[in-house]
Amino acid sequence: MVKLGVNVDHVATVREARGISEPDPVAAAVLAELGGADGITVHLREDRRHIQERDVHLLKETIKTRLNLELAMAPEILDFALEIKPYAATFVPEKREELTTEGGLDVIGHRARLEPVIKKFQAAGIIVSLFIDPDPDQIEAAAEIGAEFIEIHTGRYCDAQSEDQLKKEFSLIDHACITASNFGLRINAGHGLNYRNVVPVANLPGIEELNIGHSIIGHAIYVGLERAVREMKALLP
Ligand code: PXP
Repeated sequence: MVKLGVNVDHVATVREARGISEPDPVAAAVLAELGGADGITVHLREDRRHIQERDVHLLKETIKTRLNLELAMAPEILDFALEIKPYAATFVPEKREELTTEGGLDVIGHRARLEPVIKKFQAAGIIVSLFIDPDPDQIEAAAEIGAEFIEIHTGRYCDAQSEDQLKKEFSLIDHACITASNFGLRINAGHGLNYRNVVPVANLPGIEELNIGHSIIGHAIYVGLERAVREMKALLP
């Protein structure tokens, strides 16, 4: 069965817009688990625009599933992650101006910095995943520096504006899964997935987990979070 990691950053975004304590991503995580989430994902950004340290601490204490912490290579965030010891750490690139994570990590370019950090996290018992574009060279580099998982960036597939573009982007993800499996990497995927585009990706061989946030939290406004998660889970093989 393909696992569903529910990203609750978007709940914290609404909270931060008001600057008060609600809605609480920790309460949302409990409901997501009741709806069948296999894991909870949060991104502690350098600018703290949504998730705060308090959220990560409480999630680690309260969730019954697995905490996947997304993070950039900022020293202060790395130290915090090593202290928290989430089940998994997913390394992502971060630009202050971006609305959301825009592209995959440049593993080839940052190899020298990434490799020792990956080893340190693994020594602390944290599973390491690298969020990368469906690019065979980046996948090879991820395998060479010892990551256990990659998370394939599905954003361009999700944003495709024509049938041709959709086919092309899907085929890149399909090939990325084959390449990753050949290198012995385990595979997650995410970014931009929704109730309409998730099924083909979920059925690709090798995909273990999908991390989905915006579409589930958006749908939850209409139907409630537990049901929104349940409906997404029902689409996964
Ligand atoms: N995976 C990664 C690495 C991400 O950065 C994000 C966005 O925070 C997601 C998955 C979820 O993306 P979305 O909110 O578009 O479902």
